[in-house]
Amino acid sequence: MGKRKIGVIPGDGIGPEITSATIDILEAVGFEAEWVYLEGGIGSVEKGHEAMPAETIAKIKELGIALKGPTTTPIGKGHKSANVILRQALDLFANVRPTKTLPGVHGPFEGKHIDLIIVRENTEDLYAGIEFQPHPDVAQSIKVITRPGCQRLFKYAFNMVRVQGRKRMTAVHKANIMKLTDGMFLEEFYKEAKNYPDIIADDIIVDNCCMQLVINPEQFDVIVTENLYGDIISDLCAGLVGGLGMAASANIGVDCAVFEAVHGSAPDIAGKGIANPTALLFSSLMMLRYLGEGEKADRILNSVLKVCTDGKILTGDLGGKASTEEYKREVIRNATELVAK
Ligand SMILES: NC(=O)c1ccc[n+]([C@@H]2O[C@H](COP(=O)([O-])OP(=O)(O)OC[C@H]3O[C@@H](n4cnc5c(N)ncnc54)[C@H](O)[C@@H]3O)[C@@H](O)[C@H]2O)c1
Repeated sequence: MGKRKIGVIPGDGIGPEITSATIDILEAVGFEAEWVYLEGGIGSVEKGHEAMPAETIAKIKELGIALKGPTTTPIGKGHKSANVILRQALDLFANVRPTKTLPGVHGPFEGKHIDLIIVRENTEDLYAGIEFQPHPDVAQSIKVITRPGCQRLFKYAFNMVRVQGRKRMTAVHKANIMKLTDGMFLEEFYKEAKNYPDIIADDIIVDNCCMQLVINPEQFDVIVTENLYGDIISDLCAGLVGGLGMAASANIGVDCAVFEAVHGSAPDIAGKGIANPTALLFSSLMMLRYLGEGEKADRILNSVLKVCTDGKILTGDLGGKASTEEYKREVIRNATELVAK
C-alpha cells in the first residue's frame, strides 16, 4: 500500500512558514504521508484563480483530509473568504477548537486549569453569505439556522463529549433576542440532550458567557455554539491561554476533515521567520488522532510541553526570541529524544 495522501493548502502570509515547520516535525517522528499541495487564498487570486479553486475542493473531497494554512480575506471588499467557501463546499459542519492551559505558557490565568472545547457550527448563521443592499443606505445580512443543521451538530458534539469522557456541555446563544433562529438552536440542543442523560446539558446567553469566560473560565467543559459566536469566543479563549499562536482547530464533515490553526495569516509578521507554528502543529496533532496515530501525536505534544516548560527556545508571541526554525528544531530534538528513551 502506498503512503496516505493528505491535501495541504499552505495559504497566505505566515501560512507557508508554519506549514513547512509543521510537516517537518510530523515527518521527524516517522509520520509518513504523500503531501498533495493545493492552491487557496489570496495567492491563488493573484494568479488569476479563485480564492478557493474548484480543483482544490475536488481534491480534498477525493482525499477526505487536508491540512490548511491561514488564508487572507480582504476586509469589507474583494473575494469571499476561502475558508467560508471551503467549509460550505465540503459541508464541514463542526469546527472543534480546544483551549487548554499549557505549562510555561504565560497568560492571564497562569496557575489555573482551563481545559475546554468549543464546538462551533461551521456552515450556517450569518456566514451563510446572504448579504444584499436594497438601498444605498441599507445593507442586510440574513442569519440562517436550520433544524437539520442543529441536529447533526448536536449529535456530533454530544457524542464527542461522551467519547472524550467529558461531563458537561453548554449551549451558547442569544435566544432571548433572536427567538426563532437561536430559539430553534436551543430547542434542538435540549432535544438531543435527552439522549445523553450522563452528560450535564445547560445553556448561557453569549454576552454573559463572554463575561464568565474572562472571570472564571475553569467552570466550562464543552461549549457548543453558532458560527459567529463561536468564531469570536474561540479567539477570546485563545487569549486566555497564551494567544493565537497556540490555538488549534479541526473542521469536521461527514466524510471529510480539514485541520487548521484558529489564527489568520498574520501579515504583520509574515516572511520574517518568527511565527509560532504551534497552532498549526496542534491542529495537525488533531489530524494524527483522527487518523489513529495517537502515539505520534502524544510524542510531539510532550515535546512541545517540554520546550514550553524549559522556556528557553520560544517564539516572540510567547515571550521568547527564537525563530520559527529554531523552535521547530527544538521540538524535533525533544520529540526524537523521547523516541530514543
Ligand atoms: N483560518 C483562516 O484562514 C483565517 C482565520 C482568521 C483570519 N484570517 C485572515 O487573516 C488575515 C489577518 O487577520 P488578523 O490580523 O485579524 O488576525 P491574525 O490571526 O492573522 O493576527 C492577529 C494577531 O496575532 C498574531 N499572530 C497570529 N498568528 C500568529 C502566530 N502563529 N505566531 C505569532 N503571532 C501570531 C499576528 O501577528 C497579529 O498580531 C485576514 O485577512 C483574515 O481574514 C484567516
